[in-house]
Amino acid sequence: MNIRTFVMLFGTFCMTCIPAFAQQRNRNNRQRFEYPATPDTNGHHVNAHGGCIFRHGDQWLWYGEARPQWGFTSEGVALYTAPASADMTDPQHAPWQNRGLVLRVVDEEGSPIERGCIIERPKVLWNEKTQLFVMLFHSELKGRGYEAAQTGFATSPKAEGPFTLHHAARPNPNRWPADFAEADIKKAKSYKLADYKEWWTEPWREAIRYGMFLFRDMERGQMSRDMTVFVDDDGTAWHIFSSEDNLTLHAAELTPDYLGYTGRYYRIAPGGQNEAPTIIKRDGTYWLLCSGCTGWDPNEARLFSAKSMAGPWTQHPSPCKGPGARLTYGAQGTWMLQAGDKVFFMADVWNPRSLANSRHLWMPLTFGADGMPVVQSPIQSPMGQE
Ligand code: GAL
Repeated sequence: MNIRTFVMLFGTFCMTCIPAFAQQRNRNNRQRFEYPATPDTNGHHVNAHGGCIFRHGDQWLWYGEARPQWGFTSEGVALYTAPASADMTDPQHAPWQNRGLVLRVVDEEGSPIERGCIIERPKVLWNEKTQLFVMLFHSELKGRGYEAAQTGFATSPKAEGPFTLHHAARPNPNRWPADFAEADIKKAKSYKLADYKEWWTEPWREAIRYGMFLFRDMERGQMSRDMTVFVDDDGTAWHIFSSEDNLTLHAAELTPDYLGYTGRYYRIAPGGQNEAPTIIKRDGTYWLLCSGCTGWDPNEARLFSAKSMAGPWTQHPSPCKGPGARLTYGAQGTWMLQAGDKVFFMADVWNPRSLANSRHLWMPLTFGADGMPVVQSPIQSPMGQE
């Protein structure tokens, strides 16, 4: 074969085989994270995302974001219920009945839940003292993208709603973290925003770790985006959320009625850029499983543990095992679902082209002989193991 023929043949090979190979790889990647719908009792995919599931009385309650077929705004918060007798060892196939919207966007101008707003990651708690269901959610105002970074509070005497908006605001204005001594406050105040215009430099990271953005948001209140809630054994309720421009998580104590903050809060992994927090407590240890910040795209789960909300928090390797673990199987956590002695790490496989059709993925979370949590892969085939 002369050199001309070789070059021609090689060129033809590159043009035909390499794109075909790349296409195949992409398809395999996509296929790996393609999951079936979760049908409700009418056969429609459950439109309740970034949500929470817990048992109350004779029902399982599943609250989540009701999203439109396309677009990024919200319709409100949806509720699906299943009888308490439903088999939660396979929660994906429980008979979920669509109970409609329990919190609806409104047409009132200026309302935090005005149509066009964003309502994300709703979490509901039953408050024994006030006999009210209290919903907390990440609240963004119409037309302002993700800038408001507030927490919405809504209540209802019945699980089925309708929930009434109580208020929406940023947590903890003019409060420093409970473990900040005078010297810490002084240090946080010493960083001038103007000196750190460029993000991600080493000096900027240090300023973030020591609270430059805490101080920036002192008057307006601390930012709160991705979030979860947790009621401790002693009845103390905590709101855990991504704050400080998603760079640092805060664990903030709620008032006994769950409708505000006591002002006691702690920072978790300052500057670590964690979101989508989910939490469980076992034998006195809090396990916090979060994601990194890559928007709707999946990334590797991050695990932290502590003996107290006040910390210190220790980071561990991701507990996700098996195929797809490196990208949390294409999903991002939203809740730890506790069914009897079983725990499921509940996650969303976001579909930004049609948020309503984002898939639900619930993976058993167990504890190994070494006491560490393990999340099992929902992917059967070894294809694309990462
Ligand atoms: C993700 C977050 C979602 C949603 C999305 C918007 O990082 O977990 O709840 O806010 O960003 O891009």
